[in-house]
Amino acid sequence: PDSMEVAADNTLHIAEHAITELAERYGTPLYIFDRATITRACQRYRQAFQEQYHASPVHILYASKAYISPLIAQLVAEQGLGLDVVSGGELLVAKRVGFPMEAISFHGNNKSEAELRLALQLGVGRIVLDNWHELERLTRIAQESGQRPGVLLRVAPEVETDTHRYLQTGHASSKFGFPLGNGEAQAAIECIVREGILHLRGLHAHTGTMLREVRPYQEALERLLALAVQMYTSLHWWPEEISPGGGWAVDTPEGEAAPSVELLAQACQQAMERSLASIEASLPAPTLIVEPGRSIIARAGVAVYRVGARKVTPGGITYLFVDGGMADNIRPALYGAHYTALSVAAVSREAEESVCVSGRYCESGDMLIENVALPRMQEGELLLLPTSGAYCLPMASNYNLVPRPAVILVDKQQVQVMERRETYEDILARY
Ligand code: LLP
Repeated sequence: PDSMEVAADNTLHIAEHAITELAERYGTPLYIFDRATITRACQRYRQAFQEQYHASPVHILYASKAYISPLIAQLVAEQGLGLDVVSGGELLVAKRVGFPMEAISFHGNNKSEAELRLALQLGVGRIVLDNWHELERLTRIAQESGQRPGVLLRVAPEVETDTHRYLQTGHASSKFGFPLGNGEAQAAIECIVREGILHLRGLHAHTGTMLREVRPYQEALERLLALAVQMYTSLHWWPEEISPGGGWAVDTPEGEAAPSVELLAQACQQAMERSLASIEASLPAPTLIVEPGRSIIARAGVAVYRVGARKVTPGGITYLFVDGGMADNIRPALYGAHYTALSVAAVSREAEESVCVSGRYCESGDMLIENVALPRMQEGELLLLPTSGAYCLPMASNYNLVPRPAVILVDKQQVQVMERRETYEDILARY
């Protein structure tokens, strides 16, 4: 996080709070989010698009799935961003803080009837239709309720991305979206426009996540606009909004910087310019919607664990066992994601050994980091994993019936408990 530094006592502080003290007070594992980093990331997105993108108005929606809580929803709203939600749960968090419903997109490939009804009842700005079943379901519900909800059509633009197989979403065989190549996207638009029950506001695509190149964004935008032109010619329908989704990368733990948000904004400008150049001048350029999740929140969060034990195997592997692991961060096990670690109290001490940071869960795959160089750490010392703000807690589980960690939000003035630590009572209350 921007506010993390090595203090005079040679230990790590965030927003001037000693992490050792925070860990004493709130326990471990502890996730700490730095308010200033989130605020700055939101501002950076707004500024980059303001400066680099002129083709049409822009909406920046924070992708809640990366990490949401009422405090984060509030913070994001204060920064003038909208929200991308994918479930009734995320939508209810937005509702709890009075998030402007017009600034919300509701995604998902299998939203339930109850979730769709909730979205209608709350007046969500756009429901993103992912497939034929959803189109039928929502059409029926809208007819019953007499409302005309705003919708976007999610298109599988057949754009390949250079990322983990599980993180690709824009290919023709993706589970998400109406395929473009076989005419389904065109047929769906025709169906919605002709029926007139839903208000088709625009087109959406999301090609993948942890993307380090602009090509997929440009290809997605160009394909969506080509589709729009096709639909204007045949139906006189033209989108108000268009979106290439989210997915921008963050810096790697190995220190490779992520390409800048300015680059992304420029690329969107170029793609829109190129596409619009061939379009009838009287047609307004659709509002651009971008949906960053990870690139807003990942760097703001750190995970703090306490070392419980170490073990050296006959083969010479040194394990450092921490009090969390795959239940609060499944990403290394699921995607082979890389993290790095710092010793909170001895951050500037030279590395003395290579260790495998392993969690407390009953599974050999429970390794947070396979190999990291650290000063020799003893039982009771604190280990910090930077860049743990995205997709760790939202994918957390109660594996082995271990309560979920506490989460705090800090700035120089205050420490707020964002999520209290789960208790055994919470867990037992479900049975
Ligand atoms: N918009 C849509 C429609 C999405 O599906 C996603 C992510 C985003 C925006 C935000 O992508 P971001 O900017 O955060 O990369 N659990 C995985 C990530 C799955 C992302 C799914 N969709 C992980 O831990 O890496």
